[in-house]
Amino acid sequence: MDGTMPRFDINEIDAAFIADPYPTLARLRRESPVHQNADGSVFLTRFADVQKVYQSRDMLSDKTEEFGRKFGECPLRTHHTTSLVFNDPPKHTVVRKLLAGAFTPRKLAEFEPLIDRIVDRLLDRVDEMGRFDMIDDFAKVLPTEIISFMLGVPEEIRPQLRSYSLAILGALDPVVPQDRLDAGNRAVTEFSEVLDDLITHRRANPDGAAEGEVLEALIFGEADGTRLTQEELIQNCIFLLNAGHETTTSLVGNAVGTLLDNPGEHRRLIADPGLITTAVEEFLRVESPLQIGNRRAGDDIELEDRVLPKGTYIHTSIAAANRDPAQFADPDRVDLGRRPNRQIAFITGIHVCLGATLARIEGRIAIGKLVERFPELAPDGTAQRLPLARFRGFTRLPVRVR
Ligand code: HEM
Repeated sequence: MDGTMPRFDINEIDAAFIADPYPTLARLRRESPVHQNADGSVFLTRFADVQKVYQSRDMLSDKTEEFGRKFGECPLRTHHTTSLVFNDPPKHTVVRKLLAGAFTPRKLAEFEPLIDRIVDRLLDRVDEMGRFDMIDDFAKVLPTEIISFMLGVPEEIRPQLRSYSLAILGALDPVVPQDRLDAGNRAVTEFSEVLDDLITHRRANPDGAAEGEVLEALIFGEADGTRLTQEELIQNCIFLLNAGHETTTSLVGNAVGTLLDNPGEHRRLIADPGLITTAVEEFLRVESPLQIGNRRAGDDIELEDRVLPKGTYIHTSIAAANRDPAQFADPDRVDLGRRPNRQIAFITGIHVCLGATLARIEGRIAIGKLVERFPELAPDGTAQRLPLARFRGFTRLPVRVR
């Protein structure tokens, strides 16, 4: 330690940080675990602090004020302030109860055969191709199909979903250029129109749903005597579609990236396919798809040797927490059999990811089958990362299977 504070500001991150954030995060965790940014917000990197924030009922998710300032009056603001992830109780509780009905373990178990079939079909296709892009041709297809199926999104619209979702989620990065804001607003507007039609159609034809579709349950479901309004339905369905495929695409893409960078662990998984369950937890830990969260302190909170006053804006580095040596032995080493592994890629507390079980099932089947079927899987060109700080994944990951 050289006695100075590490130079870091969440609002001034650069391409080098996005390429490899972990050395910077390790230094912050050691030297400045409650790091102050120029705008008065703090950036947390220790597991215990991040977990404390997520578990406290006083830490708030509502972003009406911040998003008002950041976006002004526009579709992006309407979307992000209406989706449950940016609401607090009691509103959050009601919407969460309504959505949770679609994600019970029993409902999800029904999807396993469908997931198996989709993955087999995709693997047949890439087998014929021989050389392909892991993201476009494999990783993004399964989660997009599953969540689209659950919400009754017709096939012709599905190919557009990833660009919508990247445009909408990309606007959540700490610094957003105007052209990205414009793209985000266009995406919300177009996506809302599509969902408005879908919901209106399903409302008029409740019996027309395919088995397994959950849209109808969201339209007609009641929690605490309340139903979702059309606007709440549209924005929460957009959120579900985005949350349901973007991060899971990254789980699969990041897992492949991690295996290709760690040939010893790759061979270990080929030799012992039973490791896939702990392997998925390790992929989530070392390359968390959602790297940074945030909360507003609704009350004073004590972290390390400081009391952060009510009102402080807190950034939580999930990526840094998941590599904290106080929680994980030899944290930068990839160990596909790691136990225990209490990684928090899905966070903890009342906003814990509603799709965690689904994502784990999709990850287990997609990565497990891919590794088993193509033991020769190898890189085949230059990979490209998402140019975002909050979401970690690839836009391109060329590979060959023989
Ligand atoms: C590997 C894949 C995934 C990761 C890493 C992930 C991560 C997360 C995280 C960190 C949060 C908490 C955000 C916050 O409160 O700050 C969250 C919330 C959420 N996720 Fe996921 N997610 C994944 C997949 C999914 C899937 C497949 C779905 C649905 C189909 C989903 C639906 C949701 C919902 C609805 C919330 C909001 C919960 C609430 O606010 O109560 N996620 N996710």
